[in-house]
Amino acid sequence: MKLKQTINQTIQKAFDKANISEQPMSVSEATKPDFGDYQFNGAMALSKKLGKNPRDIAASIIENLDIDGIIAKAEIAGPGFINLWLNPLFIATNCERSRVDERVGVEKHENPIKVVVDYSGPNMAKQMHVGHLRSTIIGDTLANLLTFLGDEVIRQNHIGDWGTQFGMLIAYLEEMGEDGSVSLKDLEQFYKDAKGRFDADAEFADKAREYVVKIQSGDAYCLELWQKFIDISLGHCEEVYEKLNVNLTRDDVRAESFYNDELPKVIDALNERGSLKESNGAQCVFLEGDEIPVLVQKGDGGYLYATTDLAALWYRAQVLGAKRISYVVDARQGGHFKQVFRVAKEAGFVPEDVKLEHIAFGTMMDKGGKPFKTRDGGTVKLIDLLDEAVIKAKAAIKDKESYSEEEVEALAKIIGIGAVKYADLAINRESNYIFNWDKMLSFEGNTSLYMQYAYARIQSIFRRFDGELKGEIIIGDVLEHRLAVMLLRFEDILERTAEDASPNQITTYLYELATLFMRFYEQNPILKEGVPEEIKISRLLLADLTAKTIKQGLDILGIQVVDKL
Ligand code: ARG
Repeated sequence: MKLKQTINQTIQKAFDKANISEQPMSVSEATKPDFGDYQFNGAMALSKKLGKNPRDIAASIIENLDIDGIIAKAEIAGPGFINLWLNPLFIATNCERSRVDERVGVEKHENPIKVVVDYSGPNMAKQMHVGHLRSTIIGDTLANLLTFLGDEVIRQNHIGDWGTQFGMLIAYLEEMGEDGSVSLKDLEQFYKDAKGRFDADAEFADKAREYVVKIQSGDAYCLELWQKFIDISLGHCEEVYEKLNVNLTRDDVRAESFYNDELPKVIDALNERGSLKESNGAQCVFLEGDEIPVLVQKGDGGYLYATTDLAALWYRAQVLGAKRISYVVDARQGGHFKQVFRVAKEAGFVPEDVKLEHIAFGTMMDKGGKPFKTRDGGTVKLIDLLDEAVIKAKAAIKDKESYSEEEVEALAKIIGIGAVKYADLAINRESNYIFNWDKMLSFEGNTSLYMQYAYARIQSIFRRFDGELKGEIIIGDVLEHRLAVMLLRFEDILERTAEDASPNQITTYLYELATLFMRFYEQNPILKEGVPEEIKISRLLLADLTAKTIKQGLDILGIQVVDKL
């Protein structure tokens, strides 16, 4: 449910009754239990406008506030804050509704929009490395979230499959013949070997250059080789997506090469508008106030990363009809996106009302605060990292004896991959982030294991309960009250996360929810003898909604739950 909006509406009614014609500011979640559930802090700002003491304004709002089933108590605090307590009956009824709703009470957008989420975007000439991890995980979460909220999401994997290096790579693939597929398993090595041949053998180098021209002019044989190369490379990425439990398929690939035929049109369109200027033989767009121009065509006629992105922007806005286009890409490309967004809007490739955003993220660091590398200084391959996560997770499983070997295997995958994803999503995406196995695989703290454990614990309660789950929620104490309110906040949190594209708001929420549940459960036994039946049922209902909410939240993050842990 839209909890905040519901509370805001009651405040609005009080404003109307009190004849205050100003728009009330939104309530906010109380920062301490003593301050109630929500706070209205708008009286201070009104005091200047209305020329009245803020406490008097607050008093008149409270006087006119309907204690109409939503708010049970309102109190003035400090200079004119209003602390609001929600009505236990109101929260109980709404929790009951959420519990039986397969969307746990979260409504779909009334006016869904088309959103393009551009994420992952690996380069085909290289092995996927940890740098692509963040884009893949954050982008997938955003796409899952917006889909859940009812928007029409178009996932776009803008893979790097075009450029002069491919002449060299396919010449080498041709030379390798049958062995090509095998040696392509290690792309990094394949690239190095091809480069070795290129540098050492003039004939090979000539062929490589010739192949570049041929691919670009659409030569069937070279394109076939190129396609083979891309297929194998992409296959490696898909192995990673599969391991990561990420929803990217071949259909989502809109590679750089896809825009190839559009590139001359981009240049023509810019030229027609008089936006192009020659600089050192290259075609550039100079943006007002920007010192560095945007290079769109090299002196030799070749196109650039920015040209392709301009074509992609045009395609996404004009052909796909997206109203929001989100690029989940490393923060270091911030300058690039700022520029291409501006050019695209100024040139009319993208209509004014389309929201363009760079969802930037920081770099992954090791414990010592240095960019994440292997011990010998190489880039860490993503697939190795994920395999290690599963091995480490296996070691973290308690009571391994109570599971079959396959069960341990399956469990380790869910735990290990979940840990890597959660740790990444749980930090503010714009910060650099320190990769730490021990922390991410801990049962304590804000980790996926803690969340999976809370979920499993609730399932174990239900395994021991053999009655019928029928009855109602009765809010009996402060902890139950806080737990129920927290559960009703879920939709507000999801909406805010979608707006800011900041998955750590979901993890923070889940952590608070699970912690609150654990405290509630310690204090309020459920199945213990002597607990009256109706209280037992009420607590079970709250536990069930908690589990469902955790499951739904983790599902958006692309993390699975288990019934036993
Ligand atoms: N291939 C690029 C890289 O690895 C990322 C692509 C991001 N998407 C885009 N439309 N530019 O840096």
